[in-house]
Amino acid sequence: MKMKILVVGNGGREHALVWKLAQSPMIEKLYCAPGSDAIASLAECVNIKAEAVDALADFVAEQNIDLTVIGPEAPLVAGLADRLEAMGRKVFGPSQAAARLEGSKAFAKEIMIAAGVPTASYGAFSDINEALNYIEKLGAPLVVKADGLAAGKGVYVCHTKEEAVSAVNDIMGQKRFGSAGANVVIEEFLEGEEASLLVLVDGENILPLASAQDHKAVFDGDNGPNTGGMGAYSPAPVLDDAMLRKAVELVVKPVVDTMKQRGIPYKGVLYAGLMINNGIPYVLEFNCRFGDPETQPVLSRIDGDLLPAILAACDGTLDGTLIKWKPQAAVCVVLASGGYPDDYDKGFEISGLEEASAKKDIVIFHAGTRCDGGRWFTNGGRVLGVTALGSDVAEAKARAYEAVACISWKGMHYRKDIADKALNKK
Ligand code: AMP
Ligand code: GLY
Repeated sequence: MKMKILVVGNGGREHALVWKLAQSPMIEKLYCAPGSDAIASLAECVNIKAEAVDALADFVAEQNIDLTVIGPEAPLVAGLADRLEAMGRKVFGPSQAAARLEGSKAFAKEIMIAAGVPTASYGAFSDINEALNYIEKLGAPLVVKADGLAAGKGVYVCHTKEEAVSAVNDIMGQKRFGSAGANVVIEEFLEGEEASLLVLVDGENILPLASAQDHKAVFDGDNGPNTGGMGAYSPAPVLDDAMLRKAVELVVKPVVDTMKQRGIPYKGVLYAGLMINNGIPYVLEFNCRFGDPETQPVLSRIDGDLLPAILAACDGTLDGTLIKWKPQAAVCVVLASGGYPDDYDKGFEISGLEEASAKKDIVIFHAGTRCDGGRWFTNGGRVLGVTALGSDVAEAKARAYEAVACISWKGMHYRKDIADKALNKK
């Protein structure tokens, strides 16, 4: 059966999703809302914002869309999946209640404790004085997190009590993230190496995707403030097959079971941000959607069609579904605007895109660009995700940076050490 599919979102992750889905022989028509100028070469873009639940529901009904794939967290947390399911439409992504695993860090912690999942000890507070007392009691280092959605910027890793006090004041006092900071979670600082585990879930069954590692800090060597992600690669040696199986047993399965028992079955992608220490995968966070930029290298490695697995997750038939992986590794380097993750200017012309994309095994996913008369301009903080395949991580890294060297605009910056953790292990 040929299908009409709508992808919701407009970033690099959605460019990768559209790029992958567009290759499926099962597609009759592919739409993206709102999409982007880069996505427009692969799908028909519809001028509806990702958060506009009513307008998206109307579009799905009018166009008779068979399947909606929701990229970002905001529409999931706003209940887009529930709305479309109530209309009898297939949708890939969790319900509003299940998306709270990302939408509320306190809820995620509560589920983890109930499910017996390894995670940092914590306190959750709605009262600023109680939060400050907890800091006094716990001592540094510790981590302060805004409870709600904050575009990856609501987490403060604090090396001193003073930093933690100022983080709480920022979130609860200054209300830097608005109502997303009405509550805070304060947790123990965990050491180890981070990895991203993305799995497809159909409410009950689990299909892990290939492992990946993100680079959240803005500067080389994991220095500077956290960003949405400055680059990612797959596979990640820290999450080898044995550790991946362990993380599914210790983390994903108990959470999926607990959600089901509570009557809020989880469907879609579950993303576990892990800290691996002494052979134990501790959960730092859950996301209710594909990671950005992890999706870019992970989907690049899928050998064949992604759509059957997505449909199986929607239909409750993931058990027995397989995804075939290319033996190659993939590395994605994010090119960002000068100033990102703080304030930045947009509208700089990007040069060298054509030369970079012509290189072997390179795909350039656009996160924040706009096209005007055939010329490309920056239009966001994270601008491009230059993604390369190679026979191993070293070759993929070398190819990615060769392509990066072709590209420039005023103020462009990027990390030079994406994938080095994998290389340094050897
Ligand atoms: P999160 O959005 O909760 O994953 O946090 C963003 C980043 O902050 C993570 O990728 C880690 O680098 C860091 N982080 C979060 N929680 C902890 C923790 N308990 N211990 C150490 N680092 C953490
Ligand atoms: N790369 C981190 C995230 O998608 O949240």
